Amino acid sequence: MLATGPIGFIGTGTITEAMVQGLLAPTPVVQTVLVSPRNAGIATKLAASFPSVRVAANQEIVDTCQTLVLAVRPQIAEEVIRPLNFRDGQRVISVIAAIDRERLLSWIGADVTLTQAVPLPFVARRAGVTATFPPDPLTAALFTSMGTAVECETRHEYDLLAAASAVMASYFGIMHRTTEWLAAQGLPEEKGRAYIAPLFAELSRTALSSAPSTSFIDLSHEYATKGGLNEQVFNDFESNGGTAALHKALDRVLARITG
Ligand SMILES: NC(=O)c1ccc[n+]([C@@H]2O[C@H](COP(=O)([O-])OP(=O)(O)OC[C@H]3O[C@@H](n4cnc5c(N)ncnc54)[C@H](OP(=O)(O)O)[C@@H]3O)[C@@H](O)[C@H]2O)c1
Repeated sequence: MLATGPIGFIGTGTITEAMVQGLLAPTPVVQTVLVSPRNAGIATKLAASFPSVRVAANQEIVDTCQTLVLAVRPQIAEEVIRPLNFRDGQRVISVIAAIDRERLLSWIGADVTLTQAVPLPFVARRAGVTATFPPDPLTAALFTSMGTAVECETRHEYDLLAAASAVMASYFGIMHRTTEWLAAQGLPEEKGRAYIAPLFAELSRTALSSAPSTSFIDLSHEYATKGGLNEQVFNDFESNGGTAALHKALDRVLARITG
């Protein structure tokens, strides 16, 4: 069990649902979880699925829990957080995107230990990788229980990983564009999917299991025979602006994150 005491979630949406599942199944790492009444459907489902989950009003959650997770949408964050009365010494973990710690602290209005995190939906099956900032042993332990955590020393490091997390749709987009092209050439879509999904999965596993000293470009070279087909595709990708488009997209998303 983690030494969080009861853990409270303000905002019971997609990411809270994923985190609560990851914290409680298959074996719980926290004893008690309190969740906001909204979203009603998700809150009810979580309480029905796990005896240790209780639905409570936002202020009751703040009063009861030493560790709190803020998980509302950025657009309503101020109106939800500002009226709540926090206590000095509480630990508050914000997963709200694009709201910096200065603003959060001014809304919280108490001397809390505030950390920020970017959990991904895979935390539900304890396979998440979560960027956290600033380093804090309990926050790291919480997210390590749901996969792995990468602790950022600076806000800049944290913003960079938040930008990197925005490549997820493009990963699936490349899979889609490949199967779409295969289908256009006459391969039934389900065959393309049956081939591409395991191919990508195994490439990711190769990257995960290779030594940290092996860079991704080393792996790229390893999987490209000199003068072969893989080398040709990557060279075409680079020379036709693929890398430039990717870097430009990352620059733009970083600019959006840093305001
Ligand atoms: N989804 C992800 O993968 C992900 C990953 C990392 C970070 N985040 C961040 O996590 C936050 C939540 O994202 P999400 O995807 O979970 O959004 P979401 O599904 O919209 O969940 C937010 C929930 O907050 C509820 N809410 C509205 N007013 C409230 C209030 N006054 N008190 C308590 N709860 C209230 C909403 O309920 P109603 O449905 O009733 O309006 C909604 O279900 C966002 O800031 C997002 O940037 C999300």
